[in-house]
Amino acid sequence: MVMQLFKDRRSIRKFEETPVEEEKLAEVLEAARLAPSWANRQCWSFIVVKDPARRRQISEILEHNPAQKAVVQAPVLIVACADPAESGDMLGKGYYLVDIGIAMQQLCLEAWNQGLGTVWVGMFDEDKVRPVLNVPENIRIVALTPLGYPAKWPDDRGRKPLDDIVHRETWDTAKYEARSQEGRLH
Ligand SMILES: Cc1cc2nc3c(=O)[nH]c(=O)nc-3n(C[C@H](O)[C@H](O)[C@H](O)COP(=O)(O)O)c2cc1C
Repeated sequence: MVMQLFKDRRSIRKFEETPVEEEKLAEVLEAARLAPSWANRQCWSFIVVKDPARRRQISEILEHNPAQKAVVQAPVLIVACADPAESGDMLGKGYYLVDIGIAMQQLCLEAWNQGLGTVWVGMFDEDKVRPVLNVPENIRIVALTPLGYPAKWPDDRGRKPLDDIVHRETWDTAKYEARSQEGRLH
């Protein structure tokens, strides 16, 4: 069941205007709420934006982003924010990004399970989005996703073969170098 979700899910960038049922939205947010996090601190907050004018403002900030139009097309926009001070920071690794990553992926997979599409949008100027949504300076705006019924299903984007990414017992330099060269060709 879960493996089938992993295989079928796609990033959706074209949406129907059909509204998202409140019960489905609640389930999608619940999936994020249940995610594991650093010391169970749950450093996240999710802003649900439906107002078309506000979504248009955010879309304008996403200039050149492949998901720019999707933010206006889809009836719901979910913005994932984190308070880094609430999460962990150990030896140079700020775990708030991991916390949000897991919560967002749970959210995206539950959306797919409900017949809804999402696309993780990470490439945007956080400081331009901040005033539109009234987000305080100490809170990071990590990701956002449009949420709605897909209008177009992209092809499988493909992944590196398992054998390229799994090293046995220790780091395999030869394997990694072969993989890097292959990566440059694509
Ligand atoms: C951290 C992260 C940031 C991303 N940022 C963007 C983005 O700004 N715009 C966009 O259109 N897609 C973005 N994506 C979606 C990826 O392009 C997409 O997941 C990848 O190409 C694989 O396609 P798939 O999700 O359909 O399997 C992002 C994905 C991740 C995980």
